[in-house]
Amino acid sequence: MPTPTIAQKSPYVQKMAAGTYWWCSCGQSKGQPFCDGSHKGTGFAPQKVVLTEEKTVAWCGCKHSANGCNCDGTHKQL
Ligand code: FES
Repeated sequence: MPTPTIAQKSPYVQKMAAGTYWWCSCGQSKGQPFCDGSHKGTGFAPQKVVLTEEKTVAWCGCKHSANGCNCDGTHKQL
């Protein structure tokens, strides 16, 4: 299993509109926290997230969360 690149050691806390989002799991996107296609060839794939209503999301920026796209505090141990 390849190791993801740490985009930043804190979450991206954003108020999101309802919709479909693709969270960057490889850490190499220039459009964090979302996929820009940079994962090609890395073995990573983005995570699809569907929000049915407006919501504030703490997107994982370190890419090491055990909870996928959601920050679980793991960044504090990196
Ligand atoms: S930013 Fe990755 S666990 Fe918090």
